[in-house]
Amino acid sequence: MGLKELIYSLKENQALLHYNVATFEQIKAGILAVKETKLPLIFGVSEGERNYLGEDLIKEIIDFYKKDLPVFLNADHSKSFETAKKALDLNYDAVLFDGSEYFIDDNIKITKELITFREAKNILIEGEVGYLPGKSEIQKEIEIKEEYLTKPEEALKFVEETKVDLLAVSIGNVHGITATEPILDFERGKKIYELVKIPLVLHGGSGISLENLKKAASCGFKIIHLNTEFRKIWKEKLQEELKKESVTPYKILEPVIEEIKKKIIYYQENLFNFL
Ligand code: 13P
Repeated sequence: MGLKELIYSLKENQALLHYNVATFEQIKAGILAVKETKLPLIFGVSEGERNYLGEDLIKEIIDFYKKDLPVFLNADHSKSFETAKKALDLNYDAVLFDGSEYFIDDNIKITKELITFREAKNILIEGEVGYLPGKSEIQKEIEIKEEYLTKPEEALKFVEETKVDLLAVSIGNVHGITATEPILDFERGKKIYELVKIPLVLHGGSGISLENLKKAASCGFKIIHLNTEFRKIWKEKLQEELKKESVTPYKILEPVIEEIKKKIIYYQENLFNFL
């Protein structure tokens, strides 16, 4: 099943986990999780992550496993037409053009150009309206200003003009883990979903309780992005393992992979299978 069909086959309160990767351990943890659960997983690579990994190498790896497993690849947060175009050329399953830092008219213009450039290819294009502060790190408190939040009428105009397949919006979510959980404006999310009638994407899932992630799923957020949560496990477990005597990479890294895998399964099962 393609990613589009899969998203449209989701029940009202189900969502897919989008999991960012940059290292071999993270990729292996994701693959092992899917082998165990048989549940779908979207691997995400931001511009920085795909520069580090090799945008074509990660595509080859996901293609290799795609033959038997429900795994997909998304070019997360492509900040320019050129980087998004590269992922379209490479036939990723989905591409996010993140024009949230552009003026809305420029955001619409570039997103439309990408839709035209895609032609008949079966690749989902995600747009972004509204601003998500922060980055995928552990960070201090982030103030959410009203102007960051997606205006429902602006989201509608964007979707009508661009004809994107998926829409990332800001409802108080932030990238990274902050000391207190961000307060999500679910009513705004619901309103946007009713207007645009296409699947929404929730970025900044780390630091949000499972209960609220599930609530987001039932408001139309069909894909939920998590990165910092897994980066944190990667670092903490690696630090613990590095304190041991061994210098053998696979002995040091195996428990790191195992720990990340457990957390992926936890989110997969809770977001996808909680009916
Ligand atoms: P977090 O790092 O807050 O989970 O956000 C990840 C994300 O939205 C990637 O697109």
